[in-house]
Amino acid sequence: MNKLNELPIFTDGSDSLLSKHLTKAVFAELRGKQTRNGFDLQQAINSGLKNPDSSIGVYAGDKASYNTFAALFDPIIESYHGFIKTDKHQSNFEPNDLDALNPDPDNNYIISTRIRVARNLSALPLGPAISARQRKIVERLVIVALSKLQGKLAGTYYPLQGMIGAVRLKLVEDHFLFKAGDRFLEAAGLNRDWPEGRGLFHNDEKTFLVWINEEDQLRMISMQMGGDIKAVFSRLSIAVAELETALMFSKSDHLGYITSCPSNLGTAMRASVHIKLPRLSKNMPEFEKIAKQYQLQIRGIHGEHSESQGSTYDISNRRRLGVTEVECVQALHAGVLALINREKLF
Ligand code: ADP
Ligand code: ARG
Repeated sequence: MNKLNELPIFTDGSDSLLSKHLTKAVFAELRGKQTRNGFDLQQAINSGLKNPDSSIGVYAGDKASYNTFAALFDPIIESYHGFIKTDKHQSNFEPNDLDALNPDPDNNYIISTRIRVARNLSALPLGPAISARQRKIVERLVIVALSKLQGKLAGTYYPLQGMIGAVRLKLVEDHFLFKAGDRFLEAAGLNRDWPEGRGLFHNDEKTFLVWINEEDQLRMISMQMGGDIKAVFSRLSIAVAELETALMFSKSDHLGYITSCPSNLGTAMRASVHIKLPRLSKNMPEFEKIAKQYQLQIRGIHGEHSESQGSTYDISNRRRLGVTEVECVQALHAGVLALINREKLF
C-alpha cells in the first residue's frame, strides 16, 4: 500500500460519505494515527479510494478504530443512521413485541423473506485487520458453537476451501452464500488469504445459515419462502440467543454490535423481502419515493451492487443503529405493506 501523504482528491462523480467527511482538517488529525492492531487511516479508507462509486467508503479494523478515527467515522455514522455521539443504542430482539402479520398471505408479491445479523468476536480484530491465524481461530470457535445447536437449527459446516466450484456457484446463485471477489471487500483487505477460514453453515432446510469470515466474522441468517416475516424473525432471535451463550460478541453501549462497515453497526440487522412489483417498478420515481418515506433500501435480486431481474427487487430496512431489532423489522413490514397496497392500485 502506498503511504498516504496528502489529502486524497476525489473525482467529481464520487458521492461517498468518505469523500464528504474526509476534510483537510480531519485528514491532518488522523493521518499519523493507528490502533493497537496497527490499523491506520490508509487501511480504513482504501476501499473508498479504490472504488469511487462507494456509498460509504470506510471500514474499521477493530473496535478501537471507531474511537481512533472518530473524527471521520462519527460524521459518517451520523449521515448514514441519523445517530449522534450522545445517542444510546438499545436492543429488543423479542418476537412477541413484533406486530407483523404476513403482508402477502396469498403469495402474490413476496417471493422470500430473509433477516441477517452480523457479529464479530470481542477478543479479535475485525476482518480488515485480522491475521490468517486469527481468522482460523474464529472459524474453529464458531464451528464448535454451531455444533451445539439442537433440533431444527442443527446443521453442517461447509468450508469454502476444497468446495467444488460448481457447488459454490450454485449456493451463491440460490442466495445462500456470499460471492467471491467483491472489489469493495478486496480493497478493504477483507479477501486476504481467500478462501482460507471462510465457509457456510446451514441446517437441512436451509432456513438457518451462518457465513463465517466474510465481511464480518459471522453473518447469521434466517430465511424462507413467502412473507411470514415473524417466523423468520423468531427463528433468528432463538438462534442468535443460543450462539450468544457460547461466543462473546463485540459490542458497545454507544454503537451496539461492532461491525467492519459503519452502515451495519447497532443491530447489524438487514431484514429483506424479495418482492415482485411489476407495475410500481415501471414508475421508479414513485417506487423510490415510497422506499424513502419508509427508510427502505432497494437492492437488486443478487444483493448489494447487483441489478434487479424482471420486476423483482430486494427491499430492506436502511437504518440499523439507534433502532431496535423489532423496529428494523417493523419498518420493513410497514414499508412492504405500503408497496403492496400501491401496486394493487394500478
Ligand atoms: P447482506 O444481506 O448480507 O448484506 P447481500 O445484499 O449481498 O448481503 O445479500 C446476500 C444474499 O442474500 C444475496 O444472494 C441476496 O440475493 C440474498 N437475499 C437477500 N434478501 C433475500 C431474500 N429476501 N430472499 C432470498 N434471498 C435474499
Ligand atoms: N463499502 C461499500 C460502499 O461504500 C459498501 C457499503 C455498505 N455495504 C456493506 N456491505 N457494508 O459502497
